[in-house]
Amino acid sequence: MRISVIGSGYVGLVAAACLSELGHTVVCVDSDLEKIATLNSGGTLIHEDYLQELLSRHRHHKLTFSTSIEDAVRESLVIFIAVGTPCGLNGGADLSYVESVARAIAQSTNGYKVIVEKSTVPVYTNEWVRRAMVLNGSCAEEFDVVSNPEFLREGTAVTDFLYPDRIVVGANSERAARVLHQVYAPLIDGSYAQQASAVPRPECNRSTPLYIETSAQSAELIKHASNAFLAMKISFINAVADICESVGADIEEVIQGIGSDGRIGPGFLRAGIGFGGSCFPKDVSAFRSVAHEFGYEFRLLDEVNKINEEQRQRFIKKVRAALWTLKNKRVAALGLAFKDGTDDVRESPAIHIITSLLEEGCQVTAFDPAAMERARTILGDKITYAEDPYSAAKGADALLILTEWKEFANLDLSRLKELLSYPIVLDGRNLYSPEEMANAGLNYYSVGRAPREISRLTPAKSKLAKHAAGKNGSHKSLDH
Ligand code: UGA
Repeated sequence: MRISVIGSGYVGLVAAACLSELGHTVVCVDSDLEKIATLNSGGTLIHEDYLQELLSRHRHHKLTFSTSIEDAVRESLVIFIAVGTPCGLNGGADLSYVESVARAIAQSTNGYKVIVEKSTVPVYTNEWVRRAMVLNGSCAEEFDVVSNPEFLREGTAVTDFLYPDRIVVGANSERAARVLHQVYAPLIDGSYAQQASAVPRPECNRSTPLYIETSAQSAELIKHASNAFLAMKISFINAVADICESVGADIEEVIQGIGSDGRIGPGFLRAGIGFGGSCFPKDVSAFRSVAHEFGYEFRLLDEVNKINEEQRQRFIKKVRAALWTLKNKRVAALGLAFKDGTDDVRESPAIHIITSLLEEGCQVTAFDPAAMERARTILGDKITYAEDPYSAAKGADALLILTEWKEFANLDLSRLKELLSYPIVLDGRNLYSPEEMANAGLNYYSVGRAPREISRLTPAKSKLAKHAAGKNGSHKSLDH
């Protein structure tokens, strides 16, 4: 099938590469000349497992890149819209890019087309796209608009696309629903996974996806509600982590206890410095705004965002408490990306925390396995960039773990202790157990667990110290 994907961001580029991997002939369009030139000359633009392989496999064959939306539309039966929907006024999504794509499609169309919303959009966008098409000269019988939300996560986007748990197709027409079924046929019938050259299936994946056909409005709501629910789980567990610190409980034990209830599940219950990225912060606000527009005040979502912001403040408070004063202190920051496996720094909790520390007069040396280049566009030369975790730690007054990269979970702790000026580690992602940090002689502060302060704790006193630290809600600085 001939398909266009409009937009070469995370969703568009991954969708284009994966649709060509499924055997379709795909043209990926972007108005940014530089991006298209990079893609045509073998560049990838984003850091994503398997993406480079798929692009190399299909570039100039099944997959081409173009700046001409007109040509792409004329050549295709199916047109995926995967352009940005940034946060607009009052927290709602700015749909101006979607509208201008709809206008361009209407002006180029030459026969029946299925227009697919892949971008995350508010309910009724489907209807607005339809209206924009008609207002710009398209005949209503000559196209259908389908909502087919994407549930890929950055870092595992390619395997999420090729081995999804579910495919949601919201179509208000039989004809369009049949076309979408054909697009995804190799995933629905499992034939893609059987190909010798297929991207390997992730271990924890059911054999074939659920194929869910809904109305367009339901599909649009499914996407917003899914992201809002996942964000709510994270804020919920972060609020519980705060209570754990106050009462001397251990959040990791609590997570195991509640996550093992099949009705709750263990996913998205990792406590830390909160969620970031281009989706959750924007989508929680957009869903809140959609609900308001239709007469429901979704205050729960205000609280989700508030807890998320407070979580970063609490972490900064911990850094302050551990270091006493921040001015001229040198901290090593491990992690800049908003999560592991990606170079994306949009709304990254790590960047927010580093920015606050800089405002308080700290000097920051940072390392990230993938996101240094992108972080540099935001932080410039306000921080120093290190080559690895150990050179970041050298001479630092404290080490901060800000992104959950697995590379940071197996550091040589005795080497770190040697390198740090003070043996202080503040772990915003709970990558270590307090015991192993204590054994390594490091003072360890994490999320939802009592701090382990080597210089204070003796085996006999440890319970008491834990309790005292918990009662205060925070702890005072080390005696150094
Ligand atoms: C999220 C959703 O998980 C995808 O299903 C969705 O398709 C995507 O948004 C989107 O709308 O495009 P993504 O933002 O790539 O995907 O990343 P997640 O893995 O969901 O992580 C989001 C944030 O939550 C990260 O900052 C991560 O560190 C944080 N997080 C995640 C936690 O703090 N705790 C957890 O237990 C899980």
